[in-house]
Amino acid sequence: MESSAAGRAGFHPLRVSEVDRLTDDSVAVTFAVPPELHEAYRHLPGQHLALRRTGEQGEEIRRTYSICAPASPPGEPPVLRVGIRLVDGGSFSTYALKELAVGDLVEVMEPMGRFALSPRPGHFAAVVGGSGITPVLSMAATLLAREPEARFCLIRSDRTASSTMFLDEVADLKDRHPDRFQLVTVLSREEQQAGLPSGRLDQERLAELLPALLPVDTIDGWFLCGPFGLVQGAERALRGLGVDRGRIHQEIFHVDDGSAPAPAPAADAPAHATLTATLHGRSGTWPVERGETLLDTVLRARADAPYACKGGVCGTCRAFLVGGEVRMDRNFALEPEETEAGYVLACQSHPATADVELDFDR
Ligand code: FES
Repeated sequence: MESSAAGRAGFHPLRVSEVDRLTDDSVAVTFAVPPELHEAYRHLPGQHLALRRTGEQGEEIRRTYSICAPASPPGEPPVLRVGIRLVDGGSFSTYALKELAVGDLVEVMEPMGRFALSPRPGHFAAVVGGSGITPVLSMAATLLAREPEARFCLIRSDRTASSTMFLDEVADLKDRHPDRFQLVTVLSREEQQAGLPSGRLDQERLAELLPALLPVDTIDGWFLCGPFGLVQGAERALRGLGVDRGRIHQEIFHVDDGSAPAPAPAADAPAHATLTATLHGRSGTWPVERGETLLDTVLRARADAPYACKGGVCGTCRAFLVGGEVRMDRNFALEPEETEAGYVLACQSHPATADVELDFDR
């Protein structure tokens, strides 16, 4: 078991207590949390878990999945339920859908992520696509249960009704909070009997739709989650409607849908670079091999370096840049305030100066 020193999350083996089929290609998996780990697994609504397993070639496979269950009130045990959708060729999601069963042990990292909504009074809204509903379901359910005056508007986009995850859970929220929960469903490949016409939710459509549905200026927080194209379109629509950047929060699922920008070339890389990194209170200095990321440099010496997606999406590898400069291939995880404050994603960073220093503990 890895250490959780300096506030970094560690892995623990947890037993699967439920596997529920949601659609043909998705399941919800619940893990039992022993009492001594209750505090470690308390989550904020919107956070995710990294799961890991060993693949057929002995390689380590890690994936992050958002928690769909509401956050438990203090004093009650945490409910750890994640949504997993099958990804074409995805080794973890294939295993989860075809093999994972009640009673199995899975290595589960403690909850992480800054795409979160701590319950507070206000009016919040979300635009989600596909499995992007998962963290937002936890946000809406927790908020509406804990804050009697709060309101939540969910705009969700799915291909068809039968491919829609958490249909019952969302309908249940609507039944329980008819005056405070607004639900708008758009199906891109199917006509609906009621509601909006079918078709994709792109920037143009959202720019028209959002002001018709909501008092856009007075929404206290926007939560965008789903494929890169949808999240980017929603963000541009909101910015075009005058929404302040600080009120928009986003999490990308499935970056590699062809619409994400390609990594920048590494023309400015120094010929030789050295990385000093502090992790779990211990520091080390290592040469950076040409072309590798700073996360890979650390991982060669320290197997406990934090990461999950290695794709710039989950934010697990976030580190503070203490000295030197880096170039990031891509960043879908850090908010502009975090990069301005000096945080980088180690899995996307390459040295831009001969010496670089990172601190994973800050
Ligand atoms: S490991 Fe996910 S962003 Fe770096």
